[in-house]
Amino acid sequence: MKTILVWDLPLRLFHWLFAFSFAAAWLTAESDEWLSLHAFFGYLMLGLIGFRLVWGLVGSRYARFSSFLYGPRAGLDYLRASLTGHAARHLGHNPAGSQAVYLLLGLGLLAGFSGLFVQGGEEQHGATAGAFGYVVGNLIKEGHGFLANLMLLVVFAHLAGVALESWLHKENLARSMVTGLKAAEPGTPAARPNRLIGLLLLAAVTAFGAGWFFYAWHEPVERMGGHDDAAREAPPVAFVGKTLPESALWQEECGSCHLAFHPSLLPARSWQSLLAGQDRHFRDDLGLEAATVAKLLAFAVPNSAEQHASEAAWKINRSVPADATPLRITETPYWVKKHREIAAADWKNPKVKSKANCAACHQDAEAGTYEDAAMRIPR
Ligand code: HEC
Ligand code: HEC
Repeated sequence: MKTILVWDLPLRLFHWLFAFSFAAAWLTAESDEWLSLHAFFGYLMLGLIGFRLVWGLVGSRYARFSSFLYGPRAGLDYLRASLTGHAARHLGHNPAGSQAVYLLLGLGLLAGFSGLFVQGGEEQHGATAGAFGYVVGNLIKEGHGFLANLMLLVVFAHLAGVALESWLHKENLARSMVTGLKAAEPGTPAARPNRLIGLLLLAAVTAFGAGWFFYAWHEPVERMGGHDDAAREAPPVAFVGKTLPESALWQEECGSCHLAFHPSLLPARSWQSLLAGQDRHFRDDLGLEAATVAKLLAFAVPNSAEQHASEAAWKINRSVPADATPLRITETPYWVKKHREIAAADWKNPKVKSKANCAACHQDAEAGTYEDAAMRIPR
């Protein structure tokens, strides 16, 4: 036996970058705060799969799909033979392993593309913004999560397979995926190293990452309505959706005691009720003239939550029962659900003080967009 190169450099880079981007996308799916990172790893995964598909046609010997064109039946037969200790050793992908390759590439593609449509539908961001509304976006999100879970299952099966094969044939398959080397009979053809293509792949990934984070770092805070110094100092935000309508009168009359809450955060009937009771506004009398009230309503009603101008508007409106007229945003079921996990200590922070002090944690509170990536709990 002699040692030969089986996995060329581009294939090994693909393998580890793909594994890393899947793991990272999985871990950043947890909180909305990391959504821009999550999307980055999703795009990276799609790009890597695109490369792998091409490399499966033109790559070196063991990277080509033609070298491991096995069907599910062959995969199962191989698995059965492995479990009874009779499986023949394969230098490239064995029939069971190739099922994992196909499944992971296929599920990765579906999960990545469905993610693009979640981003475009539920967030109205990215390449597919506007293709669907919030309702469809939310449905696709369910499918997206299901695909990711399925993919995780295949990853575990793949890891178990690698461990089993390594043990059966007394070779460290994971290490071979790092070094590219395996023991083979003399005369077995080796793979071409393709180092240049590998370096180009690495350069492309680096350039994509640098471009992405450069953009995230330089997105002007002004676009988020972050006019004050605190917002200016906070890290800027990737993915800014469409700008919501503004009104100078609304800012003036409703922005002096607290943030001028954007009308998209409550249903029209709530604004009507709040303004009808403006002389008994919580503990204050706003003392507004009837004409001013009419003008404020002319801005609030056509821009209320029912118009679904933002993800927050859609979700708040959906959460309020038809027979309820909440006078506080902070009492709507969606708001309560989204803020349930914030620690008591964070609410008591002098920089926050009140639940209604949205701008303490949302850089874009004034603009009313409440983008996921614009949240920063002050510490
Ligand atoms: C004179 C000061 C003052 C002005 C002006 C004012 N508010 Fe308020 N507003 C309050 C106070 C006080 C509260 C209760 C805050 C609390 O309990 O944290 C409040 C609370 C609210 C809330 C509920 C916030 C929550 O908890 O979700 C809404 C909505 C609201 N105001 C809308 C308006 C609108 C619309 C206008 C303009 C027409 C306006 N406010 C103008 C003093 C004011
Ligand atoms: C103490 C900080 C804090 C305050 C104050 C606060 N929020 Fe939040 N808000 C958060 C955090 C953190 C999240 C993200 C929760 C999660 O990860 O799902 C969030 C999520 C949201 C979301 C969901 C965003 C999305 O796209 O998923 C909306 C809408 C929102 N907040 C609106 C408001 C409004 C309106 C106010 C003021 C009435 C407010 N918040 C006050 C911290 C805060």
